[in-house]
Amino acid sequence: MPIQNDNPLVRSKLMSAEDAASLLPRTGTIATSGFTNGHPKAIPAALARRIASDGGEGEFGYNLYTGASTGEELDGVLARAKAIRYRTPFMSTPDLRNQINSGEVEFVDAHLSHLSSYIAHGILDPIDAAIVEAVDVASDGRIYLTTSSGMSPTFVAYAREVFVELNEAHPLELKGYHDIFLPELAPHGRPIHITSVDDRIGVPYVSCDPGRIRGIVKTHRRDHVEPFRKPDAVSAAIAGHVLEFVRHEVAFGRIPKNLLPFQSGVGNVANAVLAEMAAADWVPPVRMYTEVLQDSVFDLLDAEKLEFASTCALTFSPAAETRFHESISELRRRFVIRPQEISNNPEVIRRMGIIAMNTALEVDIYGHVNSTHVMGSAMMNGIGGSGDFTRNAYISIFLTPSTAKGGKISAVVPMVSHVDHVEHSVQIVVTEQGLADLRGLCPVRRARAIIENCAAPQYRDLLEEYLDHAIRVSKGGHMPHDLDRVFELHRRYADTGSMLPE
Ligand code: COA
Repeated sequence: MPIQNDNPLVRSKLMSAEDAASLLPRTGTIATSGFTNGHPKAIPAALARRIASDGGEGEFGYNLYTGASTGEELDGVLARAKAIRYRTPFMSTPDLRNQINSGEVEFVDAHLSHLSSYIAHGILDPIDAAIVEAVDVASDGRIYLTTSSGMSPTFVAYAREVFVELNEAHPLELKGYHDIFLPELAPHGRPIHITSVDDRIGVPYVSCDPGRIRGIVKTHRRDHVEPFRKPDAVSAAIAGHVLEFVRHEVAFGRIPKNLLPFQSGVGNVANAVLAEMAAADWVPPVRMYTEVLQDSVFDLLDAEKLEFASTCALTFSPAAETRFHESISELRRRFVIRPQEISNNPEVIRRMGIIAMNTALEVDIYGHVNSTHVMGSAMMNGIGGSGDFTRNAYISIFLTPSTAKGGKISAVVPMVSHVDHVEHSVQIVVTEQGLADLRGLCPVRRARAIIENCAAPQYRDLLEEYLDHAIRVSKGGHMPHDLDRVFELHRRYADTGSMLPE
């Protein structure tokens, strides 16, 4: 077993998590690694313990910036310590979500591709401390990240001081997976030279002046990733409709025979689409240009259907992580991990002609999508990278089961209660019922297509009746609505617990 991470810099900066936590300010801005995984785990826990044992001399409170979602070990422990005052750009842990929805924590839900310029241009508060998880730190300050890249390069560049968690649960062979490159910001932007998913344009580490590294903490903790559910009938049906559509587009010559790079959102449905691709005979080896690689990438590899995958994070369940470790040297030729400034970059996404697949909470009859706010007001997780991809994709697809909460909620509604993705960007809507291709359709035709193909059978008549009524009474005929009735499904759910009439 090689001794990991032993060099003069590491030896001189090594400290306990408690010591590192004691060096953090009581208030200020902390920015950390993490993009679904790869977040620091030991220092946040030690900080929470410090807060709990503090005699109450002054409050603790932080702005917390990350790449995207993290886990209980960061957002969870700090939320429970009541230490987060402001959070951006994305989160997904229950305690923090509750604090955001009760108004205790200010949350700024932002496109992931926007954050670096907010930091560089001083729109957000400056970063007091960056804490990044790494697999190695070289004597000259080169930091080798773990399984995600997220915003770590930007955070390290702009933070007043840097702490590193060296997580020895990760093999050193992760070195070389990353391609770190930060684009110049407007008005000095230059073209980003990625024309193919496997292009490498940077270096495999984050550079940091060793003098800015305040402390290094060794840990040995794996990320907690829930195992994915086996695709159920609903997600398998959604995946089937997506594949049928892609095949149809190939037949029409609108997608080349070797397909286009795919972006796939997170979660069980997205995982199921890739699993279906692996199983379909006609699907050739695919390329991914995405934010998160999940377990289903191994289905593609097993079926010899993965040409190359560019991602911002490798987020594997324990079983898939074991498989990853077994082939870690070989897979370096198949995967690249990029910072989110590049994985989510509109220029690169548009140039490569991505097929983007993201998930909606609800979609309205005219094609607007709500991915973030339950019943218009309660934050779920955030928009994440879905807007970066949707707006710039060659084809943007939204997936959702046609109902939620056992059929009491229709995912197809007259008007979404919150808008994340507008009619101009949403091209294809898919539920287990079917697929609506909205491209080139006027609003009323879009509405007919979505109701007929995507709404659950028990909601179709209600939606048809609303549409016909709106066409009769609406002042404007382009996108007909009756403003008195437009939220009647949502209001009925609030009043009775079901969108269906009693
Ligand atoms: N109204 C109210 N609640 C709804 C709903 C609706 N229209 N649709 C779904 N829900 C509820 C579900 O019942 C479930 O609640 P539960 O956990 O209490 O059972 C919850 O929302 C999540 O639904 P689920 O079907 O399990 O969704 P998911 O895990 O596939 O996630 C999103 C769906 C939209 C929340 C998720 O994809 C997301 O956060 N997207 C935005 C960010 C994004 O797209 N990132 C992609 C790039 S990485």
